[in-house]
Amino acid sequence: MTDMSDLIRESVKQIKPYSPGKSSQEAKEELGLEEITKLASNENPLGPSPRAIEAMQEAAAEVYFYPDPVCRDLTQALAELCDVDPEGIVIGRGSDEIIHMMGLAFVNPGEEIIYSDPPFALYPMTTAIMDGRAVAVPHRDLTHDLEAMTAAVTERTKLVFISNPYNPTGTIVTADEVARLMDVIPDHVIVGFDEAYYEYVDDLEYPDCLEYVRQGRKVVLLRTFSKAYGLAGLRIGYGIAPPEMARALKQVREPFNVSGISQVAALASLQDPDQVQRSFQLVQEGKQYLYEQFEQMGLDYVPTQANFIFVDVGLDSRECFDGLMRQGVTVRTGDIFGLPTYIRVTIGTMEQNRKFIEALRDVLN
Ligand SMILES: Cc1ncc(COP(=O)(O)O)c(C=O)c1O
Repeated sequence: MTDMSDLIRESVKQIKPYSPGKSSQEAKEELGLEEITKLASNENPLGPSPRAIEAMQEAAAEVYFYPDPVCRDLTQALAELCDVDPEGIVIGRGSDEIIHMMGLAFVNPGEEIIYSDPPFALYPMTTAIMDGRAVAVPHRDLTHDLEAMTAAVTERTKLVFISNPYNPTGTIVTADEVARLMDVIPDHVIVGFDEAYYEYVDDLEYPDCLEYVRQGRKVVLLRTFSKAYGLAGLRIGYGIAPPEMARALKQVREPFNVSGISQVAALASLQDPDQVQRSFQLVQEGKQYLYEQFEQMGLDYVPTQANFIFVDVGLDSRECFDGLMRQGVTVRTGDIFGLPTYIRVTIGTMEQNRKFIEALRDVLN
């Protein structure tokens, strides 16, 4: 008899299951808590724009129709916002799906995908699914080592992923660093600039990678409605690329991949930039508070350009996690990133931030 496991592709068996952390419901049930402060997944506690909620309510009655398969209105709005050719926009179920499409469209078995270690989970997952070869380049001081990543390029390299800001540390690579990479990167390599946290960045050294798209360079930019737009649960993100590359991504896309509700909510969110500004301000205020508190506690943290902070709590992060969770606060532990004394905490509302700090002080004492 054939063993079930013999039916599964070897590369799929190697995939480490995505570790989403405990759901709020699980945590509540296990600990008998009324409420969980979830600071584990870099979500936006302000939630969506009221305009998006209204648009979703209106669209709800129409769900018996299949959605617009080409997301025409949203594509047009994003092309205007980004000042790029609409042919170069690809909408997906989160930027996760665009990463997956990049694997399907570009990576032949055995080709190399370069990323910084620790990576965002979707890069190794896509590599494995495509039977690609993962080239994980160690971080340097908790940021991308772009020189080492450039040096790792070979004739077999197909893709380089750069998470900018970097999840889990919140650091960025600068315009100059990216320009140096783009000057020398060989022609057969596609660079994926993953800008999931783009709207939170205030560092003037941050690169304008859209310019590489406009120049027709072999790049794909990834952005999302999950973070600053507060639509994580809808699953909607997008890629921006030169039209010829975007066409390849669309060829591997499932028809009707993005629901009609997601499309109208995203479009309505774009029409409410004030909500994004409020989300940005919330993170600015929260990060100043958290920095001060970490400093008072003598904890090293990584100054962030995203909506989360990576902080060294000086003890096993799983222990810290358990202690925080008993008080109803969840964060992400650093062990999954190979940095076992760190935790990654999402910047929440001021009330959530205070609750987290109170719980953390308790755990560390
Ligand atoms: C670096 C990075 N890229 C991509 C994503 C995916 O976001 P989504 O699929 O929700 O658009 C995330 C989500 O946490 C992320 O941290």
